[in-house]
Formats: sequence, structure tokens, C-alpha cells
Amino acid sequence: MDRTVVLKQIPQATDGKLFTGHLKEFQHNPLQFLEKLAREQGPIVRFRLGPFQKVILLTDPELIKEVLVTEQKNFIKSSDVQSLKVILGDGLLTSEKEQHLQQRRLIQPAFKKTHIKSYAQDMIDTTEAYISKWDKALESDVSQDMMNITLGIITKTMFGLDFKEGHELIGESVEKAMKLAIKRMRSVIPLPLSIPTQNNRKYRQTVQALDEVLFKIIGNRRQEDKQKEDLLGILMSAKDEENGLGMTDKQLRDELMTIFLAGHETTANALSWTHYLLAQHPEVEARLHEEIHTVVGDDPVKPEHFQRLFYTQNIIRESLRLYPPAYVIGRQVDKTVEIGGYQFTKGEMVLMSQYVMHRLPEYFEHPEEFKPERFENNFIKTIPPYAYFPFGGGPRVCIGNHFAFMEMVLVLACIAQKYQLHLIPDHVEIKPQPLITLRPKPSLKMVITRRNN
Ligand code: HEM
Repeated sequence: MDRTVVLKQIPQATDGKLFTGHLKEFQHNPLQFLEKLAREQGPIVRFRLGPFQKVILLTDPELIKEVLVTEQKNFIKSSDVQSLKVILGDGLLTSEKEQHLQQRRLIQPAFKKTHIKSYAQDMIDTTEAYISKWDKALESDVSQDMMNITLGIITKTMFGLDFKEGHELIGESVEKAMKLAIKRMRSVIPLPLSIPTQNNRKYRQTVQALDEVLFKIIGNRRQEDKQKEDLLGILMSAKDEENGLGMTDKQLRDELMTIFLAGHETTANALSWTHYLLAQHPEVEARLHEEIHTVVGDDPVKPEHFQRLFYTQNIIRESLRLYPPAYVIGRQVDKTVEIGGYQFTKGEMVLMSQYVMHRLPEYFEHPEEFKPERFENNFIKTIPPYAYFPFGGGPRVCIGNHFAFMEMVLVLACIAQKYQLHLIPDHVEIKPQPLITLRPKPSLKMVITRRNN
């Protein structure tokens, strides 16, 4: 019997340049480029970035599921994520295969739904302390405010540090390191860090300074008798079920840095976009206020309110649909594999874009509209898995997804209970800027007024 399998041809994008392929359009506006490609070419298409890098864009939920879940062992993270190793070491985001599995097993308990609840009060307290200074009507950079709040929350829940300590000790250096990392990613040929260019020197110094702080925090903790209940405490006491070993200081440093980086800018951007959308949709804002009034009233927001704030939760889901902070997931084919009748060849890159998927009219009616109600009546169960995936999926699904979701709902509830955020008159158009995460550009300047309940 002839067992030859006839493979389907992956359609090729047209109009690529001979040498650079579609690099220029991709670099100029990746969101627009990917959306256009998907619209014109359908669920699977191949294009080139530069002379050699072949890329496959997937916009079929079933194929995305194969790459992220069923056939995930044939893929590794794409090279831009790998380049973050200089800062993140071998933390959860950048490690691969057995090492990733082992680390994930150790860290997972700290992010279980039941455990996450214990962080809720810290989330509320940090937000309330921050917004209390908004007492008079003022114009503020809300993107920066959201960054400060989520930075405060992550330092408190991770290290037990207060906002000022966390901001000064870690926050500023992390921001600096990230800016330099982006610069490196964007350079056409990133020179090895051993070459002492001005940027490379700055980068190394910043990472070294961060290392010193993190190792000092870890060292001090090792001296303490009592185990603390923050994330660092949990990670330090975690033992692998199979070999009984805990984490070394280097592993702890890498994981702390990873969670720190992965866990505050994403959430901050989602909250900024949410306020941007609310300011343009007074009918949604009115329902939000109504729900806060019914569920919370004039009392302080409490952790147990989270479960009952259904509409507020749907506002966050809808905001993550329109402006997913992680707007694209990239994988590199590690072993040639056949998926859905197509061949994915070793070395090729696969892109799966939440931004593109979340705006496909076949899954989302009037996709451009901001309608939190669409998530009512178990809407998610009516569309295929991976048509909506703001937190990724499979074994590498965001470990902080429940943490982030609860955080966004509680921060929004605390703010909406007391304040209303308006766009400044004649504001310029805010556009999504796809850096490592999807940021509002220019940053979101808003007028904050106290609500008269
Ligand atoms: C709105 C907020 C967030 C969004 C949209 C988001 C999104 C994502 C996505 C899409 C991935 C998968 C990337 C891939 O498969 O290549 C991911 C991974 C990850 N996220 Fe998040 N994230 C958010 C918040 C957080 C928070 C709050 C934390 C920690 C406290 C966190 C920690 C991580 C880590 C450690 C990974 C790597 C997991 C692994 O590879 O095993 N994230 N995130």
C-alpha cells in the first residue's frame, strides 16, 4: 500500500521584496500587516522576514491549538523571547523542555486559584493607597499611574516590600533594563554583549545592579527563621515532588525577575486600555457604576467582591479582546512536523496573533465594538478554543492568568467606586503601539474627577 502522504501547500504571501521579504511592512506596523495578511490570504500563510527567516501566520483556532497544545513538543520559543535571556536567565518564560517543566511544577502552587485569593487584600490596599492622592480633580498620565499601581502590587505580593522600596530598589532598574532590551531587539544586528558598545555597557551595568538587589533580598530571606507567605516565601519553600530539591539562589533570581517583568506591564496596559474604552462608552461605564453600587456600595472593596462583580469581569474580558497586551505569540519549529496536512519545517517561525484572532468577524459579531455584554451567557463556550486566548494556552499558558484577572477586576473596582476618568478635550488619537506588550501611544492623559455617588 502506498503510504505517501500528500501534503498541502502553504499559500505564499504575495508582494514580498526579493531580499527583505515583508520585513519593512512588518516592522512598520505589525498589527496592520498581520491583519491584512490574514484577511487576504486566509487561515494559513507563509511569508519571509529578511532573506532567510520564513514565517507562518496562523489564524485558524484548530491549527493554533495544535501548535500550542497537541504538538507543542515540536516547538520552542521564538528568537525575540530567547534574546530576553540576558535579563531573565532561565526563568519560566525563557527556559525550554525538561528545565521548563521542572520549574513550572515548582512554581505552579504559588499561582493556584485558592492561593491567589490571599493576595487580593494587598492588591486592594496598594490601589487604595495610590489613588488616595487623586483627591482633587487633576490631569494625570493614566498609563504611568497603572504602571505604578501594578508595580506596587507585584513588589508587595512578591517580596513583601512597600511601594516606595519596591519602586526605588527594583522598579526603576527593571524599566531601564527593558528599554535597553527593546533597543537591542530592534537593532538590525544586535552585537554580542561582550562587545563594549555604550548601550551594551549600560545594559550589563543595569542587569548587574538588579542582580545585586535580588540576591540581597534572597540572601536576607535565607537568614530569617519564619517563612513568609509572599511569593518569594512560597518559591523558597517549594520542593520538587520527584527529586525533593528546592530552588537555588540563581533559579530564584531568574524566576523573580521573570515574574516581575512578565507580571506588571501586561496588567498595567490592560488597565490603561480599559479606562480608555470606558471613557468613550458612557453606557458601559454607567453599568459598571451600577454594579459597584449594588455589590460594594460605599464600603471599602473587599476580596470577596471579586466573585460577584460579573459585569466588571466582562469589561476586563472585552478589553483584553480588543487590546490584548500580549498581541502575538511566536514559536520556532524545533522538529519538522506535519500539522493539519501542512509541513512545518525546522527553523521556521510560527506567529499566532491574539490581536488578529480577537477581531475576526466569524467569532465576534461587530468585532470593532466594545461590548462587554457579549461575554454573558457563557459566550466563550460557544466559540472554538483559541479564537480568544489573551493568556496563551497549553503547557506554557500564562502562569499569572488568575492573578492578573483578579488584580485587574479589583483595581478597576477600587478606582470606579470613587473616580471617573475622562479623556482630555481635543485629545489626540490613541493608537496601540506593539512593543513587547501592546501599549497606548501616546501615553494616556486623562482628567480624573471624584464621583458624587
Ligand atoms: C493582562 C495580563 C497578562 C497577560 C495578557 C499575559 C499574557 C501571557 C501570555 C500570552 C503568555 C504565554 C506566552 C507564550 O506562550 O509564548 C504568558 C506567559 C507568562 N506569564 Fe503572563 N500575562 C499577564 C499577566 C501575568 C502576571 C500578572 C504574571 C505573574 C505574576 C505573569 C507571568 C507569566 C509567566 C511567568 C509566563 C511564562 C509561563 C511559561 O512559559 O510557563 N503574567 N503571559
